[in-house]
Amino acid sequence: MDIYEGIYNKNKKLIDIAIEKIKVCEDDPLHFVGHTIDVVNYVKELLEKVPANKEICIIAAYWHDVGRSVTDKGHEEESGRILKEEMSKLGYSNEMIEQCYSAVVNHKRECIPTTIEGKIVRDADIIAYIGRNRWKRCIEEEPEALDKIIEVYLPILREEILRLQYSKDLFDRDMNLYVKEYIEIIKNKKEGNNLDINREENIKDCYSNFISNFDVSDKQKFESIINEAINIFSKINRNTAIYLIPSMKELYDNVK
Ligand SMILES: [Fe+2]
Ligand SMILES: [Fe+2]
Repeated sequence: MDIYEGIYNKNKKLIDIAIEKIKVCEDDPLHFVGHTIDVVNYVKELLEKVPANKEICIIAAYWHDVGRSVTDKGHEEESGRILKEEMSKLGYSNEMIEQCYSAVVNHKRECIPTTIEGKIVRDADIIAYIGRNRWKRCIEEEPEALDKIIEVYLPILREEILRLQYSKDLFDRDMNLYVKEYIEIIKNKKEGNNLDINREENIKDCYSNFISNFDVSDKQKFESIINEAINIFSKINRNTAIYLIPSMKELYDNVK
């Protein structure tokens, strides 16, 4: 049996409760269950390179956003509170409860996790901000939104990931892949839809430029990017805006 299957079987009741609770957020493109699955998968990948307690990481990954079913602001503490309650009911040891709790509450942007398990969950959450499932949903529901995600949002997100080199490698690997897939979709659409012939080249240029050019320490530039993004997003439809504006504002507030 695969090690993660063993962990899942051992903690099935606890993990199933998390999945049930997070399903409440199904209509929220930022926090639907696909995002949780992305986080779990990135945690597994990080664990291939970083030694840590796998069981704690997996439980915390499933539970990190459960509090979103109750509140957005302060959802990290809410996730931790409910997790503690459920773990106590199921008879987990105090030490295990405390370690899972710590990894969950410290995935907050402003927090610096005190344990390696917390750092892994937090990094996985940041990479998964635009992970496979969210990207897929965006392509299906709002492909036009991806232009700005690629141009503006990804570089900002990447700057948040500089803590662990391996996280940055995973981010580059997957974002490059998603951008390539997106370019393929544009190519296929071009025939019938008369899309801008330069769009594909623009996307390629933007993506190769932003990793080298973006400097989060330049607050003025950061501010102007955020303002421009909000300006653009406010002109397009609500679905696109809810993908991007909250995260942009959150990042901007952190830098300010
Ligand atoms: Fe969260
Ligand atoms: Fe999350």
